[in-house]
Amino acid sequence: MQQSFDLFFVSSNSYKYQEVKKILNSFEIKLGFFKFDLEEIQSNSLKDIALKKAKDAFFKCKKPVIIEDDGLFINSLDGFPGPYSSYVFKTIGNKGILNLLKSNRQAKFVSIISYCDKKILLSFDAKLDGTISNSQKGKSWGYDPIFVPKNSRKTFAEMDNKNELSHRYKALKKFSNWYLHK
Ligand code: IMP
Repeated sequence: MQQSFDLFFVSSNSYKYQEVKKILNSFEIKLGFFKFDLEEIQSNSLKDIALKKAKDAFFKCKKPVIIEDDGLFINSLDGFPGPYSSYVFKTIGNKGILNLLKSNRQAKFVSIISYCDKKILLSFDAKLDGTISNSQKGKSWGYDPIFVPKNSRKTFAEMDNKNELSHRYKALKKFSNWYLHK
């Protein structure tokens, strides 16, 4: 029997949904998946991109929704790829990023979770500092094989507790605190 949900995650990325679902389940929030490729506006602001995606997602899904927009910001590249992380991953990928870097490998991952229903449009953001590894390590999705979070020697792809400390976890924790008390 199909389960009904009060909250849906709208995205075309099922890896992201699996992570978001697991994290929200740990806060006792059940989450449905509305698989849809939302259009991304071009903007230097992750928050503006996320809010527009959330409005479009609610229009499409007609139920309370959350969406996520992320960016990988690399210090020595003045924050590149940032809001263009998705395009850069699809074009030059992890190999291309590694080829661009020299000694300064500081970076951060930023996550914006935006919620939209009939009356409310809100965002929750979080960042996680780290570094870019010298080579790809571990098998996983996106930038996981090259991002090493602060205080770790392993890339996200090599860790088994990514969902307890990631940028996504931190933004979803803020969202859950609000959602469970609204
Ligand atoms: P978007 O939010 O889907 O636009 O994500 C931007 C880019 O960052 C995409 O290429 C994602 O695959 C990548 N990305 C976002 N979050 C993560 C993560 O937790 N691990 C690895 N890559 C990620």
